[in-house]
Amino acid sequence: MTAITSLPRLVTVFGGSGFVGRHVVRALARRGYRVRVACRRPDLAGHLQPLGNVGQIQPVQANLRYRWSLDRAVEGADHVVNLVGILHESGRQTFHNVQEFGARAVAEAARAQGAGLTHVSAIGADAASGAFYGRTKARGEQAVAEVVPSAVILRPSIIFGPEDGFFNRFADMARFSPFLPLIGGGTTRFQPVYVGDVAEAVARSVDGTVAAGRIYELGGPEILTFRECLEEMLKVVDRRRVLVPVPWWAARIQGAVLGMMPRPLLTTDQVTMLETDNVVSAQAEADGRTLQGLGIAPQTLAAILPTYLWRYRLAGQFTRDRAA
Ligand SMILES: NC(=O)c1ccc[n+]([C@@H]2O[C@H](COP(=O)([O-])OP(=O)(O)OC[C@H]3O[C@@H](n4cnc5c(N)ncnc54)[C@H](OP(=O)(O)O)[C@@H]3O)[C@@H](O)[C@H]2O)c1
Repeated sequence: MTAITSLPRLVTVFGGSGFVGRHVVRALARRGYRVRVACRRPDLAGHLQPLGNVGQIQPVQANLRYRWSLDRAVEGADHVVNLVGILHESGRQTFHNVQEFGARAVAEAARAQGAGLTHVSAIGADAASGAFYGRTKARGEQAVAEVVPSAVILRPSIIFGPEDGFFNRFADMARFSPFLPLIGGGTTRFQPVYVGDVAEAVARSVDGTVAAGRIYELGGPEILTFRECLEEMLKVVDRRRVLVPVPWWAARIQGAVLGMMPRPLLTTDQVTMLETDNVVSAQAEADGRTLQGLGIAPQTLAAILPTYLWRYRLAGQFTRDRAA
């Protein structure tokens, strides 16, 4: 029997209060780890407490832009998970500060503590990307590999699940608008991956059952275009909406205008990211650096979307379905 003491006991999860974070925290708590959730606003992380036993989950304040706060957050930790990423910049929360400097700083703090490291990046991380998001994700990965060569790096495609920012956003838009935009004509291909499967991959990495020092690309079982994603969502919420192709040039103008808002719906950087397909590479498939390679059978959109998008269905439809 494997001695329980050989497992890492305390895991610091940077970004544990976010969308992916709450699923990672739940997966780790279920395995018996003590989880320290490090984020800027731990006072807003109260929703995590019911995911574990009393005292098992401890929120602490840390900001990736301040190295000293990271050392404090990883003190005594056996493993560190970094889930911090941003989709748009605001003030000092720049792509460079968070995804490049911040990724390196977390890796340095983990190394100083002698802890293992799991770093969550994204498919689209590419030093030659035209988007700041993709470039800084790639530089963050490079820094992590340099500082902690044994780190496991996970690159998910677009992630779906109860609090996701993609399907929820468009389902919400479909409640009020007769049209939905197909950025760049809606031909960009995605490989949507269930948040629970991403969390399981992180937890296996923390367990130490994932080969160290490698980059894994996490995608779901299906590749869908942007248009097909919206069609799938509309089927689930039982609405008909006109899908309007928005050419790239027009999307960039929209991104420039909307990008000036405090919490923008779209930015020019996001439009640039959408110009490239977001799917698992042939090389990762060939090497088994995928969810399947980790022994995880990924969930389909059809199985999961109805479990949380039902609330966007037409009033009365849900009750009619239940009565049927
Ligand atoms: N969601 C997707 O579809 C998707 C796809 C591919 C890759 N990813 C990657 O997966 C990771 C998790 O994404 P997510 O969707 O869960 O993001 P999220 O919901 O926005 O959560 C981000 C987390 O990071 C924390 N955070 C932000 N800035 C911080 C800073 N300067 N210092 C410390 N903590 C900070 C936030 O808490 P506070 O605001 O309280 O600090 C929050 O806990 C990211 O690296 C993202 O790039 C996500």
